[in-house]
Amino acid sequence: GKSGYDHFMLKEIHEQPRAIRQCLRGRVDEMAATVDIGDLGDLSPTGVQFVACGTSYHAALYGANLLRNAGIPAQAFLASEYATSPPPIGDALVVGVTQSGETADTLSALREARKRGARTLAVTNTVGSTVARECDHELYIRAGPEIGVAASKTFASQLAALNLFTLGTTRVDGKRDIISALRDLPSNIQAILDESQAKAVAETYVDSDAYFFIGRGLQYPVALEGALKMKEITYKHAEGFAAGELKHGPLALVTEDTPVFAVVTGDGEMARKTIGNVKEVEARNAPVVAVTDGQSDVGRYVDAVLEVPETHPQAAAVLANVQLQLVSYYVADELGRSIDKPRNLAKSVTVE
Ligand code: F6R
Repeated sequence: GKSGYDHFMLKEIHEQPRAIRQCLRGRVDEMAATVDIGDLGDLSPTGVQFVACGTSYHAALYGANLLRNAGIPAQAFLASEYATSPPPIGDALVVGVTQSGETADTLSALREARKRGARTLAVTNTVGSTVARECDHELYIRAGPEIGVAASKTFASQLAALNLFTLGTTRVDGKRDIISALRDLPSNIQAILDESQAKAVAETYVDSDAYFFIGRGLQYPVALEGALKMKEITYKHAEGFAAGELKHGPLALVTEDTPVFAVVTGDGEMARKTIGNVKEVEARNAPVVAVTDGQSDVGRYVDAVLEVPETHPQAAAVLANVQLQLVSYYVADELGRSIDKPRNLAKSVTVE
């Protein structure tokens, strides 16, 4: 059942601390700063191509970014495009990210890769799924069953699992800090769930024409995911953009009736640049909501702030996403939408 929540989606958003704990259990040793992902630790990929759809594609974009930071050439592809026109694979490991393990586009991309001699890995939530049977290796995200059609906790668990994969297979710098940030994720997510102002933000902006989401680096996939969730469960127009791309066209869509959600964490070069982009939309009178850890001064330029605890940049993406999940959920709830079963959508998409 829904355990007292109005919707499975809200319940599953609240299950994220537990989902992450399960994902990490027995796989991280904080004292030794090591990660144990079993045989996968021996993979030592020299290149990685991710294939995935929808929310899982956003997780794949994040995973590719992590691997590149660790010095491994990595790219994320939309599975439907990869299956239709596969890139040269070389000796890359091809990784399918799929919660259900049954998505036809993703299975088809992986089959195409295997036909060309590639080794394949499935990152999935579902033991015994088609993807787990067909791939050479599996990494389970252990989120537990997700009933809401819109992916929520499985996305958080995919991000956590992709961190484990990177830590377990590469020589990425600063492992100890990343591991400790992963261990802090459950309590940091809980703090957001307990204190979020997302409902008030949703009530303020529920009548808007459209919603835009911007982010840079690891926060770019979070912006895309924020927009996808908004579309799926509210049926409102929403788009996610790389913060730097806004001025290359989409800025023409920005008006006083289109709130812009800007994900700005840390206080480095990336934050500074995204704040520049925030000023561009402010100048067009768009309301701006910052999702921020308060390290930069972005709060001075925006209409509302959704706070996330300060942490490692890789973990910050997971936290920012929780705030955006809640915003979409409460906008959809205000509009009386069918949140757990949005129109035209199915949990598992088994056709190409
Ligand atoms: C978004 C959503 C879909 C799925 C996509 C891939 O909320 O649920 O975009 O993420 O259909 O599904 P899986 O991960 O099962 O391959």
